[in-house]
Amino acid sequence: MATIIKNGIVVSSGGQQKYDVKFVDQKIEQIDPVIQPTESDQVIDATGKYLLPGVIDDQVHFRTPGFEHKEDFEHATRACAKGGVTSFLEMPNTNPTTTTAERLDEKLELAQGRCLVNYGFYIGATPDNVAELQKVQRTPGIKIFIGSSTGNLLVDDQTALERIFAETDLPICAHCEDESTIRENQKAIGDSNNVADHSRVRDYRAAIVATKRAFELSHRYKHQFHLLHVSTADEIPLIAEAGDLISAEVCPHHLFFSIDDYERLGALVKMNPSIKTKADNEALWKALCDGTITVIATDHAPHTLEEKQQPYPDCPSGLPAVENSLALMLNQVNRGLCSIEQVVGWMCEAPAQVWHIANKGKIEIGYDADLVLVDMKLEHQVLNEQQQTKSRWSPWHGQQLQGRAVQTWVMGREVFRYENGFEQYAEQHLGEEIQFAR
Ligand code: DOR
Repeated sequence: MATIIKNGIVVSSGGQQKYDVKFVDQKIEQIDPVIQPTESDQVIDATGKYLLPGVIDDQVHFRTPGFEHKEDFEHATRACAKGGVTSFLEMPNTNPTTTTAERLDEKLELAQGRCLVNYGFYIGATPDNVAELQKVQRTPGIKIFIGSSTGNLLVDDQTALERIFAETDLPICAHCEDESTIRENQKAIGDSNNVADHSRVRDYRAAIVATKRAFELSHRYKHQFHLLHVSTADEIPLIAEAGDLISAEVCPHHLFFSIDDYERLGALVKMNPSIKTKADNEALWKALCDGTITVIATDHAPHTLEEKQQPYPDCPSGLPAVENSLALMLNQVNRGLCSIEQVVGWMCEAPAQVWHIANKGKIEIGYDADLVLVDMKLEHQVLNEQQQTKSRWSPWHGQQLQGRAVQTWVMGREVFRYENGFEQYAEQHLGEEIQFAR
């Protein structure tokens, strides 16, 4: 069956224009100022709304297998559908970790039939799994924890890092916080129950030392590298000079939260890399707007509220964000701080480009019908009790936003609709494995 979305404003990073968009089965077939429907076509009236490519979130932790009490594919991908996210790339710090070809295949199998949206999974690096990293194909790339975070994945030994950059071909991304610096800081600060000390333990130096180290390896081995979740102003000049092999991303929490928020939100804003100052928020926003940082991802990392309420340092790091990231950015558009075209660039086009994702990230003929219809006028409040993530909380609880996804299609199938205050989700979990065109 064909579907025609009529009278919507179609957005790309290059501009916006009123078009009708027709998709048949999974693919976009026609984009024209006016498309005449036949009797059998399903017609959606999008007058006054914006049609965006589905968001691709290239950094999420969906906790399956092993930590399903925090999150699972069903909850997480409902959250995605609600937030306009039609594809996700998930991290390997599950239990077991995704560090062999076999484990990767197992994860892909687990996801099949349980996701409303499209899925892909990174392979995690360990100090001695280069042979596995060389073997895998069904992955966007290799994730290295150069500093430890949730779980026990860590590669900070120089020889092991050299081997990964020298002997593998897949794109590499990394969590850049220097482990030795973290340990030194920890020792200097000593025992503490003050969650704000998290930003002193994982400070600027930790971020910058690890980022420099990764960039040097990427340059020396001419290896494509993506810097995950930049948190400091100090890393921006490095990114600006890094050249074409290197890309960088920022997360909403590093744009919108600072150390001033520990007082109000406590461990809810404890994450790795840690939050920094308001000046860092501003510098990161500027770097995003001037094109130094090209990608927005969430690092959606849910933990239960009970876990988060443990005293520091036992409270785990990470927060859920996948269902609010697009709305947070659309709110920025409404505040006049960026354009909707830029949002499409950061959240749809750039991640598809960085990860070589075939046929996604744009509204073009022949591309997959992964689409999100957005109402820029709709005001709404983020509320814990309305969150779809299994952890059922958001650090943005109580915040009023303007602009949100009202309808989401994945491979031509409607997976989410918001109408008259009610949310509807598809019952079948038909999200597909993402193909990488390397
Ligand atoms: O805060 C974080 N939490 N940062 C990470 O890199 C990992 C994540 C998690 O898995 O909990």
